[in-house]
Amino acid sequence: MAPPEEHSGEIKEDSVAAASSADNLPISTVVFIIAMQKEAQPLVNRLQLTEDVDSMFLKGVPWVRYYGNYKDLNISIVCPGKDPILGVENVGTVSAALLTYASIQALQPDLIINAGTAGGFKAKGASIGDVFLVSHVTFHDRRIPIPAFDLYGVGLRQAFVTPNLLQELNMKVGKLSTGDSLDMAPVDESCIIANDATVKDMEGAAVAYVADLLKVPAIYLKGVTDIVDGDRPTSEEFLENLAAVTAALDEAASRVVDFINGKSLPQL
Ligand code: ADE
Repeated sequence: MAPPEEHSGEIKEDSVAAASSADNLPISTVVFIIAMQKEAQPLVNRLQLTEDVDSMFLKGVPWVRYYGNYKDLNISIVCPGKDPILGVENVGTVSAALLTYASIQALQPDLIINAGTAGGFKAKGASIGDVFLVSHVTFHDRRIPIPAFDLYGVGLRQAFVTPNLLQELNMKVGKLSTGDSLDMAPVDESCIIANDATVKDMEGAAVAYVADLLKVPAIYLKGVTDIVDGDRPTSEEFLENLAAVTAALDEAASRVVDFINGKSLPQL
């Protein structure tokens, strides 16, 4: 039931005024969520961040945080760290969602930036080395063919809209589809095509789910390491291009950071 007219009017005006005055302050705290340490390291070095040895996370998690001030920004880069048994990085949606939740709780960021590598579709204009600014995210491996659950599974969410950033940085824009596999089964491919995605990763939509729940604006930068509708094996192409694409991602992320510095969210 709707609240009485006069009350709803008053509360709304007050809360809108409070929200917009906070929104108009310069962005202060930015958290990068980056799945692989190799993807994060160039930006950690460039921003001269320090590893947090006295972890703010619960004891036992392998998550790693780098932090520091860059210009007027307080920046953290968080990574899900390594699997304690296998020693490989904790890629994928489960770690990404947990890490996003804990980082928002601990750091209360004004903005989240999920940066990482992705597979790209040449049929949608992606080439190796492109860095995309993502417009929307979806999942492609949560197929639940029951009304409403089907849409819940797809989990379509819009990235925070940044027209000025886009114009200034002149990046390619595309939709992102997320799943927990590096390869692409035919059923995933059909879903990705239905999702109209240009890039495919393993974390973005999971970060978006949490950021949306906790009302933190989030943007997504995805560097293309492999062409998924090409003829090369994905894992081979991914490993071959990882270092070069990570450098391109670092360059794009640092330009984003420089653009964000001193601006409020509505100015992005
Ligand atoms: N990250 C880099 N390439 C990828 C791909 N093809 N699928 C999912 N995540 C990726």
